[in-house]
Amino acid sequence: MNQYNQKWAFEYEGILTQQYDNFPTYFDKFLSLNNFDRIVEIGTSYGGLTLYLSNNFSGPFATLDMDNVKIDPKVKDLFDKNLVEFIHGDELESSIVNHVVDKYITPPGKVVLLCDGGVKKDTIKEYSKFLKLGDKIAAHDFFIDSNAFNSQNNWEWMQITQDSISDTIKKENLLLCDEYMLDIAWGVYEKK
Ligand SMILES: C[S@@+](CC[C@H](N)C(=O)[O-])C[C@H]1O[C@@H](n2cnc3c(N)ncnc32)[C@H](O)[C@@H]1O
Repeated sequence: MNQYNQKWAFEYEGILTQQYDNFPTYFDKFLSLNNFDRIVEIGTSYGGLTLYLSNNFSGPFATLDMDNVKIDPKVKDLFDKNLVEFIHGDELESSIVNHVVDKYITPPGKVVLLCDGGVKKDTIKEYSKFLKLGDKIAAHDFFIDSNAFNSQNNWEWMQITQDSISDTIKKENLLLCDEYMLDIAWGVYEKK
């Protein structure tokens, strides 16, 4: 346990990371099985997951947040060195959506959007309209349903379930995949 004395407040290289403490094991597998060309993280917070992704993924990578105050200096340094793009703004604001779509989703190659911001259901609905076949979109604090959430005691947040995005899943032809990621409260969908 760390200084925050919370399971969710794991420190990755000294940076508060709002993930399960074993998230690198799962993300190592996720990255190596998928060979993504680009990654967008929505919801930077202090930047622990950002730093992990920067250390383990060499392609174009952006992280987005409406708040740039709490980001750790080590992560701000990645932005200053142009190793990671920081997109500052609301995840649903049209100029932000357009930027992510034009630079990260539309070009050829496989992208994953990691939705860990404030309005996950709406974000999945908005961004999945633009995915190409084979692209993936994932949401954190995801459980298949409330039974899955209630039958565990490792994670305290359920902000999105399969049912809560069933309209989007159907409309955009999304298929649940990478199901091992459910162990760490990430639901991943592939555009079919
Ligand atoms: C749970 S934290 C992200 C955790 C981070 N990915 C990690 O693994 O440590 C959620 C972040 O989303 C940001 N956020 C909330 N609503 C947002 C919005 N509408 N647009 C952009 N960012 C938002 C918050 O400022 C906060 O930093």
